[in-house]
Amino acid sequence: ENIPLEMHKVRIVQKLCLPTVEQRQKNMEAAGNNTFLLQNKDVFIDMLTDSGVNAMSDNQQAAMLQADDAYAGSATFTRLEGKLRELFGMDYYLPTHQGRAAENILAETYVKPGTVIPMNYHFTTTKAHITRLGGRVEELICDEGLESFNDYPFKGNFNVDKLRALIESEGVEKTPFVRLEAGTNLIGGQPLSLRNIKDVCAVCREYGILTVLDASLLQDNLYFIKQREEACKDMTIRQITREIADQMDILYFSARKLGFARGGGICIRSEAECLKMKELIPVYEGFLTYGGMSVREMEAVTVGLEETMDEDVISQGPQFIRYMVDELHAAGVPVITPAGGLGCHIDVKQFLPHVPQEQYSAGALAAALYIAGGIRGMERGTMSEQREPDGSEHLAAMELVRLAVPRRVYTLSQVKYVIDRVKWLYENREIVGGLKFIEEPAVLRFFFGRLAPV
Ligand code: F0G
Repeated sequence: ENIPLEMHKVRIVQKLCLPTVEQRQKNMEAAGNNTFLLQNKDVFIDMLTDSGVNAMSDNQQAAMLQADDAYAGSATFTRLEGKLRELFGMDYYLPTHQGRAAENILAETYVKPGTVIPMNYHFTTTKAHITRLGGRVEELICDEGLESFNDYPFKGNFNVDKLRALIESEGVEKTPFVRLEAGTNLIGGQPLSLRNIKDVCAVCREYGILTVLDASLLQDNLYFIKQREEACKDMTIRQITREIADQMDILYFSARKLGFARGGGICIRSEAECLKMKELIPVYEGFLTYGGMSVREMEAVTVGLEETMDEDVISQGPQFIRYMVDELHAAGVPVITPAGGLGCHIDVKQFLPHVPQEQYSAGALAAALYIAGGIRGMERGTMSEQREPDGSEHLAAMELVRLAVPRRVYTLSQVKYVIDRVKWLYENREIVGGLKFIEEPAVLRFFFGRLAPV
């Protein structure tokens, strides 16, 4: 049997409580049917995200005690900078307080009205920063990537022919960089292959276009390359990391994911590109040796990055996710296959065929799952999209509920409980109806919009 095995033991615990179903119904109503607006004390199993909620290791906690507090020139920063240089081989590092702050700096530097940024797939905050400045996102994901169920091992891959065609039609001047998102978030945490990364970057080099890696979900992608890509099976995780980074001009990350802590930043190969962005760091983030991060968090990231090079560490998320996907799939519940990183993703178009996407079916299912089991997932569908400039609804290509698996946090019995509740909800899916906005923010509306049953 494919039972995931924890390669760690638990040494600090936090008590949970499971509210009654009546309480859960009240809580969900008070939260405007938006799982972002629930109080954590009312949540039994929190699968909203793996961002900033992964369990730290003993070594991370120990390192935090040695943090060197200084506004400028902190030894803690120097350690983090050194670790990034060691792993990624890029000379320059600009710290930011989290991943989207790095996206802001990149967008402010390279995006202007009419700019086109090609990418395998967008992420919510990435797209918000690019479109806010008048740029446009072009998604070049391979066809397999948007199919809910198949056995394609690298659904995050680009269609390289489409990339070339896009550059030819838009022109190099309008295309300052191509963004590659490791562990493609919104299509189910799906990886790119090293082969595809190299092919995409070769095209960019040919045209003189910068390559930018969003490495936030790199840890899962590294594991999948090692597991699924024949040519890489004898490489170490460290070697794969370096081969990927060697293809890039710029790499940015959310350390809320990569590094098992909080924070982020931008690694840059050339001094010239670094200088374009550098002055924005003290404006938006903080001085160049902390960028909005606490020194304790920076110490934890340094150790977390090193731990990411250990296959036993980075296998934990994907193995638990595969277990969830296998069990639910076997029970006939529509989940994205193959299992990716980040979490188990429910295909809501199939789960709730009677609820149209215009009624935010994924949002409705996320709300229902909380009521059914005290489980908090995240809507990753039409609610998470932005309206078109003319105000019309942009239906998501994939309408998903994500059950993220924070690393090293939940045990197998808790995961089994989640599987049981999802199966129950699937058997009783006709009780779930659609939602409509009663308060709709103009930007990133999924975060704090409020909804009511239609
Ligand atoms: N890029 C990717 C691929 C991400 O998954 C995230 C965050 C970001 C950038 C932004 O980083 O949160 O540190 O500002 N994803 C989180 C999630 C929010 O829940 O999937 P951040």
